[in-house]
Amino acid sequence: MSRNKEMTKPRVLITGVSGLLGSNLAWLYRDRYSVLGLYRRHPVSWPGVRTLRQDLLEILSLKKCVHDFRPDILIHCAALTDVDACERNKQEAEQANIEATRKVVDCLNGLPTRLIHISTDSVFDGEKGNYSETDPVHPVNHYGWTKWKAETESLKRKGTLVFRTTVFGWNVQEKESLGEWVLHRMMRKEKINGFSDVVFSPLYTMELGRLMEKTWQKGLAGLYHCAGSNACSKYDFAVQLARVFHLDETAVNSISVDALALPARRPKNLSLKTSKLTESLGNSLPSVQRSIQSFFDDFERGLPRKLKGLA
Ligand SMILES: NC(=O)c1ccc[n+]([C@@H]2O[C@H](COP(=O)([O-])OP(=O)(O)OC[C@H]3O[C@@H](n4cnc5c(N)ncnc54)[C@H](OP(=O)(O)O)[C@@H]3O)[C@@H](O)[C@H]2O)c1
Repeated sequence: MSRNKEMTKPRVLITGVSGLLGSNLAWLYRDRYSVLGLYRRHPVSWPGVRTLRQDLLEILSLKKCVHDFRPDILIHCAALTDVDACERNKQEAEQANIEATRKVVDCLNGLPTRLIHISTDSVFDGEKGNYSETDPVHPVNHYGWTKWKAETESLKRKGTLVFRTTVFGWNVQEKESLGEWVLHRMMRKEKINGFSDVVFSPLYTMELGRLMEKTWQKGLAGLYHCAGSNACSKYDFAVQLARVFHLDETAVNSISVDALALPARRPKNLSLKTSKLTESLGNSLPSVQRSIQSFFDDFERGLPRKLKGLA
């Protein structure tokens, strides 16, 4: 690629590029966009993506980095996402999720950048399920509370798009997303427990990336639920993964989340209604089955090893 061609591509800045979603978006966009990714502790790199170490809480260097790059789009993925760690270290969670978002928004002052903020289904208490964007939020743990506050910070900037989602995918780091956790254990022929009373609407990270690109091309702004078009329990999700990956689905035990004593409370039904985004885009969102198939197809293409720089 010539330097001139590279310079005419739209510029996309991704925070949390060393995380699950950030890395997957960087990989997906790397050919069509000029991508700069920011990480904090875990250096990552791929051909076609520029990455920089940048703590979002360091406002002066962050501002310089953002103003030097002048992104057309800034996708804010960085967060402290470990629900139990957020419960144990409340101040750290507030810094990573709320204060860092405030600083990202501040840095964009004076720039025409479109901000896309990634939020979560965990802003809801899970009592009702099938939540729409107009349902009142009621987080049951500190992670959900900080993510809700962070949405509010992002939406102060005109034109911001907030995506509430729940994702699975292939990690760049050694840690495992839910999908990987299930598969790795089943591949080792271990038994696993799947919660039959925890319901969600998972979306494969790459599917989310494709939808996100459509939303900014359409100029959408405001709050949207971007998730699978249907819902399933975590137990069903594990069984469906087993089927698509040709593994033994009887390795999955059905249990209740109440059987485990976890530091942070877990909401039970976090299924999201996606009709607002479906109508705005004019086409339906991927079903859970479709997302799992797409996750499998990328596995067959060697994506997990490529993301980790092993192939
Ligand atoms: N994964 C899910 O199922 C899920 C569900 C719903 C919503 N979400 C949301 O989606 C977004 C991405 O989630 P994810 O699973 O990809 O997260 P992740 O894998 O845990 O990655 C988090 C990222 O945030 C970065 N980070 C944290 N604090 C930072 C700071 N102070 N300065 C700079 N970078 C910082 C980390 O950098 P280092 O690792 O380099 O320190 C890492 O790149 C989050 O906003 C999350 O709330 C995720």
